[in-house]
Amino acid sequence: MSLSVPHGGKLIQQINYHYNPNMDNLVVHLTSQELSDLELIANGAYSPLTGFMDEKEYHSVVESMRLPNNLPWSLPITLAVDKKTANKIERKDTVNLAFNNEIYGVMSVTDIFKPNKKKEALYVYQTEDLNHPGVKKLFNRDDFYIAGPVTLIKKIPKKKFMEFYLDPHETREMFSKLGWNTVVGFQTRNPIHRAHEYIQKSALEIVDGLFLNPLVGETKPDDIPSEIRMESYLVLLEKYYPKNRVLLSVFPAAMRYAGPREAIFHALVRKNYGCTHFIVGRDHAGVGNYYGTYDAQKIFSHFTKEELGIEPLFFEHSFYCRKCENMASSKTCPHHENDRIMLSGTKVRTMLKEGVKPPKEFSRPEVIHVLMKGLKQKV
Ligand code: ADX
Repeated sequence: MSLSVPHGGKLIQQINYHYNPNMDNLVVHLTSQELSDLELIANGAYSPLTGFMDEKEYHSVVESMRLPNNLPWSLPITLAVDKKTANKIERKDTVNLAFNNEIYGVMSVTDIFKPNKKKEALYVYQTEDLNHPGVKKLFNRDDFYIAGPVTLIKKIPKKKFMEFYLDPHETREMFSKLGWNTVVGFQTRNPIHRAHEYIQKSALEIVDGLFLNPLVGETKPDDIPSEIRMESYLVLLEKYYPKNRVLLSVFPAAMRYAGPREAIFHALVRKNYGCTHFIVGRDHAGVGNYYGTYDAQKIFSHFTKEELGIEPLFFEHSFYCRKCENMASSKTCPHHENDRIMLSGTKVRTMLKEGVKPPKEFSRPEVIHVLMKGLKQKV
């Protein structure tokens, strides 16, 4: 076995830091999500995408979770502009892509179109409810999308943890150097609790390496900030994981909270980073009660193994059982619910904010310590 082939067959690379943009070009201002998408298209994490999606690609992905050439792709990757800007742009124009008044990219425009946001919400998020953070963001975006291939022309500055930003070609190189043929990817937007550790280590029993790939792009305000989470990953790895079997690197994408659809997207992107396997546990990328606990696993049955090119590893809801004196799931533990320690993310965040330590069976004390310290400093 060898590392997985990038999605679509080739790792995209559209970075040119020597490119001098024409200052007469129209400037399009990106949101933080669009900036991270620009970076991830350019560095190949979103292979085979070479740019923001045009109308045909958009509708195809929204309706059928496939690109027009039939390749699986579950989330629209789009760039929104307001009507005034859309009216100024013509197909074949080159526009400069800016964030905070710095130009980071250029795009050759191939399409300008009006999305159907209601349809996008219903297909991608399965709801139009504005309380859903992904839907809310969608409806708050500008009303036109512009499309076309992009080039990243300036490095996007990172505030902290620079050494943990690796492009897919770099992670692939690392995996090879480490001698890993099979690598399991783990997506997370949370601190790593005992249940996460349990499913990661269960997977590590059968593959060569763990690619711990926390998402550090935009998340909803009540999620734990990525800087604090990074500290917690580092203490945990230091104390509880074998050094030569884990690679920690960040995933700069924004969270969509699209549950099942995002699980497919997360898996395909990790395939581009070189993973052969991908963990999908309970309510992957979910929020509130919008998705069923195992919907993000069931959705994989829409695709063949060959089409996906990465093997999902499904895990049941895991917990610590006082009677087993172990981590377990309902697949391995015969005891009553009352013996099981389960805490919701919301409950844990409230506890941390109020200075109440969650039990050590739920989360390693070292992790709790970092989280409490970090959240206190933030307030
Ligand atoms: S996510 O939005 O990034 O999916 P989170 O960081 O909580 O959220 O989850 C990371 C991964 O661990 C996901 O695959 C999720 O399904 C899985 N997971 C989280 N908690 C549990 C649990 N208690 N049991 C099994 N899987 C879990």
